[in-house]
Amino acid sequence: MNAAAPATSGTPGVSPVQEEHGQDARGGNAHKRDARGTKVRLRGVSKHFESGVGDGAHRFEALRDISFDVADGEFLALVGPSGCGKSTLINVIAGLDKPDAGEVFFEGQPVQGAGPDRLVIFQDHGLFPWLTVQKNVEFGLRVLGLDKQARRERAARYLQMVHLTRFRHSFPFQLSGGMKQRTALARALAVEPQVLLMDEPFAALDPRTRDILHVELQNLWLQTHKTIVFVTHSVEEAVRLSDRIVVMASQPGRVRRIIPVPFPHPRDFLDPELVELRANILKEFEEELEILVKKEGDDDWHLKAGSISARPPRGVDLGLADGI
Ligand SMILES: Nc1ncnc2c1ncn2[C@@H]1O[C@H](COP(=O)(O)OP(=O)(O)OP(=O)(O)O)[C@@H](O)[C@H]1O
Ligand SMILES: [Mg+2]
Repeated sequence: MNAAAPATSGTPGVSPVQEEHGQDARGGNAHKRDARGTKVRLRGVSKHFESGVGDGAHRFEALRDISFDVADGEFLALVGPSGCGKSTLINVIAGLDKPDAGEVFFEGQPVQGAGPDRLVIFQDHGLFPWLTVQKNVEFGLRVLGLDKQARRERAARYLQMVHLTRFRHSFPFQLSGGMKQRTALARALAVEPQVLLMDEPFAALDPRTRDILHVELQNLWLQTHKTIVFVTHSVEEAVRLSDRIVVMASQPGRVRRIIPVPFPHPRDFLDPELVELRANILKEFEEELEILVKKEGDDDWHLKAGSISARPPRGVDLGLADGI
């Protein structure tokens, strides 16, 4: 764990949750990670932003002393409250932004900038509206220098993987939200990056579509063996998909703890052990949310005990039921 992170009490009575303390800890898939080697390494990464002008100018500490490794082929989830620096961290790993202190290594080499080996998929799929599904997927391949035939073949392969062959000649406006995200996934995978950085890719989708995409993404990951860093507010999403969950705390953004998810893939998302793990992590997060509520609200604003982990009444989406 990050030396600057506050000590945490852990999750009493949660058998599948084991805390990892630094690089030596052994979690569910730790032996596999060791065998696979390290893909991304973060060491003491800190980042400030300057905002405001004149008297209102201030320095905001977005990330403080972040250190963890992502193993080759690992699915790592980053979870934390809004503003804790998840997107900033993704940008730093992608090489789109530079840390003020600390270092990011990709395959042992310091990250100097963005590259096709580390691609980001955002919540807003970023498809080109004037191009068909197939042309969107082919777009990045032109930049890689593939000829027309090779581009077409590769696009066809990845569109088949996301089950969109039938819609290859459609334009983005003719697709549902889930289909757009599957196109974005195919477009990113077609470039065959080493690492896929996904920043809340399913946050804007309805729960059913998200369920389908969880199955889809798990299958794609098992087929392609990509290293994935996946930002989400949803503990359920993190527990379903990831090997480990990096839990971040805010103000400043730092690693609170790292939780292994020791269940083999492909997973049965209704497995009672998985459901129990999710419930127990959510229970722990209520404490963090209470702190957030105190910082960001009036003194009389309290979270009711059990309000986060409890299921909302049917048809009512509190937006907090599964997330932090
Ligand atoms: N370019 C910027 N200039 C100034 N402040 C910034 C900038 N980018 C991010 N921040 C601040 O840094 C903090 C972390 O932002 P970031 O977007 O990384 O959080 P996040 O965890 O991704 O939040 P969310 O879950 O809402 O997406 C926030 O307080 C944000 O206001
Ligand atoms: Mg963000």
